[in-house]
Amino acid sequence: MTAVPSLSTSVHRQLAAALAAALPESADADPLLRRSDRADFQANGLLALAKRLKGNPRELAGRVVSEVTRGELISDIAVSGPGFLNITVSDAAIVNALAARAADDRLGVPYAERPGTLIIEYSQPNVAKEMHVGHLRSTVIGDALVRIMEFRGEKVIRRNHIGDWGTQFGMLIQYLIEHPHELDHEGRGDTESGTAAMSRLGRLYRASRAVFDSDPEFKDRARRRVVDLQAGEPVTLDLWQKIVDESKIYFNAVYQRLGVLLTDEDVVGESAYNDDLPTLARELEESGVAVRSDGALCVFFDDIKGPDDKPVPLIVQKADGGFGYAATDLAAIRNRIGTLHADGMLYIVDARQALHFRMVFETARRAGWLPEGVAHHLPFGTVLGKDGKPFKTRSGETVRLMDLLDEAVERAAAVVAEKTPELTAEEVAERSVDVGIGAVKYADLSTSRTKDYIFDLDRMVSLTGNTSVYLQYAYARIQSILRRAPEGAVAAAHAELPLAPAERALGLHLDGFAETLQDVAETYEPHKLAAYLYALASYFATFYEQCPVLKAPDAATVANRLFFCELTARTLSQGMALLGIRTPERL
Ligand code: ARG
Repeated sequence: MTAVPSLSTSVHRQLAAALAAALPESADADPLLRRSDRADFQANGLLALAKRLKGNPRELAGRVVSEVTRGELISDIAVSGPGFLNITVSDAAIVNALAARAADDRLGVPYAERPGTLIIEYSQPNVAKEMHVGHLRSTVIGDALVRIMEFRGEKVIRRNHIGDWGTQFGMLIQYLIEHPHELDHEGRGDTESGTAAMSRLGRLYRASRAVFDSDPEFKDRARRRVVDLQAGEPVTLDLWQKIVDESKIYFNAVYQRLGVLLTDEDVVGESAYNDDLPTLARELEESGVAVRSDGALCVFFDDIKGPDDKPVPLIVQKADGGFGYAATDLAAIRNRIGTLHADGMLYIVDARQALHFRMVFETARRAGWLPEGVAHHLPFGTVLGKDGKPFKTRSGETVRLMDLLDEAVERAAAVVAEKTPELTAEEVAERSVDVGIGAVKYADLSTSRTKDYIFDLDRMVSLTGNTSVYLQYAYARIQSILRRAPEGAVAAAHAELPLAPAERALGLHLDGFAETLQDVAETYEPHKLAAYLYALASYFATFYEQCPVLKAPDAATVANRLFFCELTARTLSQGMALLGIRTPERL
């Protein structure tokens, strides 16, 4: 069983029927129903309708009200204000709706109506470079969207479009040829830690850069090495592969620490499209989509101009014959549509690349490779330091991601140990990973994607406020209540019981889980799920304060409240799992 209709869907249906009966000539008007604090739901669609019919909104609303039968679902409906409808649902309807959700292992969340093949491109770090907080954002947002879309039944193809090609490899490889032991180390293989791999690469990068900048002859040799790389000369290619592999050890260590789904199978880097580039350029030129301009192959756009009002082109091929970033992206589109048959493509890339993607998508569209509405660039904002400037170390370098994650886990350990002093060191260590990593992910995912945010570990691991720790504690607390339930007291829905206000509020919110997920999936905005979960934990806190669970007056109420607890816990952990955040049973 799945797809439990929400209360709001059922109420909407009844209301639409009443509206059609009262005003047959406007049978298709939308009553515009939404959740409300005044009543359970409010409909304000009659205001617009009255305007259109040149009628009196309160009078129209009255006619609709008289068509609604109060009963199992709607217990009360009244006209309010200028012509709103305030609707209250019955307690039994709430409990029954929740019972139907609880009976389904998907909590009544429907599959997407027309699932398709969705390519989600995210993380995309660059070989031989440190990952930075921008890559952290892309990785975390991408991971959440992958989980959410898969849960909806989409066929998701993950793509980690790593930067593994370009002229900088000439320099690195040439240096390695001249200093063959630079990447050597003991114990190569599984035991190799990502941090060590990255520091070797960092050293290689800095050393080769220094020679490159100071020795013109080396610079020349490095340039020639690029040509060898492009020609696929075996020794050159081997060393290139060595550098890429070393980087992957580092990337994988970060992914493992973060607990994201990415694996080596998802890595299809820029280099993968090399062989397609000459044909691609020729086709673009022959079709007239791209034209030669000062030797370079360019695509122009009427509405894209630089500060001097000169058109800014997308460069497919440089005057020296080299292909760049844009050509690779065009080839990737062709592959993803033509070979992988993508119905949708999401690019999780920072907002500064918005113009690039606009030009790439438009070029692909003109070339006939990209149907309308398939590709979406999902931009995200910048991670800032406490000073409000892009997050860097004090000396102005990129912050090492691993250090950052380690620090988050360390802070979390302090919070966990303080909150539960009786835990052993081992237990603290175990839980602090879930808490610390969860904190970093949640801080990111709970911020509207396009906004910048300040990286503040103190706030991220705080027990109060909109943090993952707060949600994890809510979950663990419910688990503890469930564990403490006396023998024989089992969670069970009792629709015959009247509900307290805090129970109604919690119940109505629980019922909105599926709709929230649908909204998240349609807008690609995970922060709406985070906001939903935070509100859920808050409703639960009020419920727990006002409605004793294990000390409730009678067995039926105990069972019903345990049922509310259990469904809240399941919804919390399912929702957090979709954000890629774990909810430990005990904290
Ligand atoms: N590697 C690039 C960077 O670190 C991001 C790649 C974005 N994806 C793409 N298809 N262009 O900035």
